[in-house]
Amino acid sequence: MTDQATAERDYFSDPSVLKDPYDYFEEMFSKGPVHQLQSRDIVMVTGYDEALEVLRNTQDFSSAICVVGAAYPLPFEPRGDDVSEQIKAHRHEIPGSDLLVTYDQPQHPASRSLLNRLFAPSRLKAMEGYMSGLADKLLQDAVARGGCELVKEIAVPYVTYVVADLLGVPAADRDLFRAALDQSAPPGNMNDSEKPTEFSALEYMAGFFVRYVHERRAAPGNDVLSEFATAKYPDGSTPDAMELVRLSTFLFGAGQDTTAKLLGNSMRYIIDTPGLQQQLRTNRALIPAFIEEVLRLEGSSKVTFRVARKKTRVLDTEIPAGKRVVVALAAANRDPRRWEEPKAFKLDRPKIREHLAFGRGAHTCIGAPLARAEVRIMLDRLLEHTSDIGFSEAYHGKPGNRRLDYEPSFIIRGLAQLHLELKAA
Ligand code: HEM
Repeated sequence: MTDQATAERDYFSDPSVLKDPYDYFEEMFSKGPVHQLQSRDIVMVTGYDEALEVLRNTQDFSSAICVVGAAYPLPFEPRGDDVSEQIKAHRHEIPGSDLLVTYDQPQHPASRSLLNRLFAPSRLKAMEGYMSGLADKLLQDAVARGGCELVKEIAVPYVTYVVADLLGVPAADRDLFRAALDQSAPPGNMNDSEKPTEFSALEYMAGFFVRYVHERRAAPGNDVLSEFATAKYPDGSTPDAMELVRLSTFLFGAGQDTTAKLLGNSMRYIIDTPGLQQQLRTNRALIPAFIEEVLRLEGSSKVTFRVARKKTRVLDTEIPAGKRVVVALAAANRDPRRWEEPKAFKLDRPKIREHLAFGRGAHTCIGAPLARAEVRIMLDRLLEHTSDIGFSEAYHGKPGNRRLDYEPSFIIRGLAQLHLELKAA
């Protein structure tokens, strides 16, 4: 029987874990970098090398449960040392299993390849002018008012319009997309950890993409949507129209909360770290290094999930087939065996881009270069338009007694709201 005094907190529902997941991860890491949780039939991986091993091992680990999370039970009782066939047979019963991030071989690389053109470096570079102009437009009014709520007023519309631009969504439809996303909850809602996440906003947007794909296939133009609608699999075959619809709507889901929350987390560091705001104002070329360190210390995806397809090992630990695994990216990014003084904020860490905030391996975040550019440009414009940025004390209290509320998600790490005072430049 579990001793109540030493009982582990529940990762998926405990409010203290939401408030400070790092303290919780440290506790789990002290029990071992690969640890069987007491309260659930789940293994948590908190070590850097161990997380890398799981993320890279697509032979033994399936991504099928990646969206719904490990807390949701499998739709089958695992039998034997290889549950590959069971996963295959029941995949459609796992919520979110029609989204790229949950695909396994051989569908995954084929579908992912359809997105490559969208994320080509030249295309992202060409979008920077749009991002900068959009950031200026959103910030002008906020600076004139002397402040704003950064997450919902600025970051969410910004990232939604940017993904719409990436996909070439017609201007007239973009506001409708934003309104739909505004109303939806972030993935991995802790208030309802036993139930699958709902995708109503994505379903709404899917309706638009059905039309776009059919129209562009019937009469291709010279635009991004046409290029996307007529993309082929590497073997030359034509993807089902609905596959393109799923991929495009997923980009809104995958790129929205994560990037918006990273912007909020970055801003908190800028305000809270003594001397940092001035340092970045004086030398904006430091912004990219700053973003990497925020990604390491407080990236916006705390965890991702896998399920063992076969009986396997993660370094020294045996993992039975069918075991659900939490890969704690945020814990790996603070593993003291990998990072010197892991809790310290440093702008000059060697090999900082080896953090796992964007995952690693076959499913590594395809939007990472876009997210980096979005946050860099928005921070640059914020510093350009202002001479000082601070917390609104009316909302967040005084230093030493701050009130900061985090989004109630076991996947996303980010402030639900961040009210700022902005002093015009
Ligand atoms: C700070 C922002 C972001 C963070 C922290 C983040 C994090 C992640 C992580 C950790 C994964 C890997 C999940 C896994 O292996 O289980 C992932 C995958 C993915 N991300 Fe991001 N992401 C961000 C922004 C974006 C953006 C802006 C987009 C697109 C517009 C995007 C699109 C995707 C897609 C499509 C995948 C699935 C890739 C695959 O399965 O092959 N992400 N992201």
